[in-house]
Amino acid sequence: MSKPNIAILGATGVVGREITQIVDELKIDFESIKFLSSPKSAGTKLTFQGKEYTVEETTPDSFNGVDIVLASAGGSTSQKYAPEIVKRGGMIIDNSSAFRMEKDVPLVIAGVNDEDLKWHKGIVSNPNCSTSQLMLVLEPLKKFGFKRIVVSTYQSVSGAGLAAINELKADTEANLKGEKFENKCFKKPISFNVIPQIDVFCDNGYTKEEMKVTNETRKILHLSDDVKIACTAVRVPVFRGHSEAVDLEFEKNVSSDEVRSILSKSFGVKVIDNPDNFEYPTTRDAEYVDPVFVGRIRKSLAFDNGIALWCVADNLRIGAALNTVRICKSVIDMKLWGKRD
Ligand code: A2P
Repeated sequence: MSKPNIAILGATGVVGREITQIVDELKIDFESIKFLSSPKSAGTKLTFQGKEYTVEETTPDSFNGVDIVLASAGGSTSQKYAPEIVKRGGMIIDNSSAFRMEKDVPLVIAGVNDEDLKWHKGIVSNPNCSTSQLMLVLEPLKKFGFKRIVVSTYQSVSGAGLAAINELKADTEANLKGEKFENKCFKKPISFNVIPQIDVFCDNGYTKEEMKVTNETRKILHLSDDVKIACTAVRVPVFRGHSEAVDLEFEKNVSSDEVRSILSKSFGVKVIDNPDNFEYPTTRDAEYVDPVFVGRIRKSLAFDNGIALWCVADNLRIGAALNTVRICKSVIDMKLWGKRD
């Protein structure tokens, strides 16, 4: 098998730029690479591995001869181009939520459920950012049998794109100067505030973001409906990094020392947990680095056989770009691209 031709769709966006950088960091072995955007950024020059490339406007024919597309250009763009990519014999690793819950689309966290890649039919989805960091923490604990998973997220604005980052900056400056500011990305002021809404509300009173964490967790970990999962997702005035408070109830009794020991040896996880010395991870510890940091591991006071913990991660890396590129690496290692039947 030769090397794949790769395209990055949404290369000029916040996540697309990270994907480009990580393709280099993980030494993805490709034959050719191209960078695609909307007409707005087409023609932009970018330097990758010492070579200059021109970002191209995306059309269906952009995917002629492309084997693997790493996409982060929004749900409607993925919906428009995924059939064109598959029709041409390529595959798409998609960051949007467009296909995540479709039955024939594997939803994958590299290092957790790579085996699911084996049944892809041209589309593989990358989970929501809050789900992603949680999976690397939960998968090693699955052997104790989950009964209940309760998650509260504290999510940074970069999860909502470049415009949201700029809004937090501008709103903060205006607030400090005592000036009025009109919010566009968020329903409420984001500076010096905490907003208990991410995405729109569903009929059950939960938001779409909360339901994504619930449904995606069940799909990735192959959990039955007997396992009860609930999430409250909150936007906080932080630029980069998502934090989560997690309460778990297990079938079997497990000590906090055991959980600490297991997670210390788990792929993609770093435990910082010595509260006596004020050692626990904060959002800033996770900026621009790969691990999901875990701390505050303790016996739950609310659940029998329960454990409570705190985890933080860089939402643009493990929550989006890093996992996308890790999936690409697994697809290449497992020889799962180039299925042109
Ligand atoms: P562009 O820079 O031309 O707008 P972000 O989430 O940070 O806003 O980035 C979104 C990415 O998706 C950008 O690279 C953007 O390109 C790209 N994009 C948005 N709409 C389309 C589209 N219809 N076709 C191709 N790429 C798109």
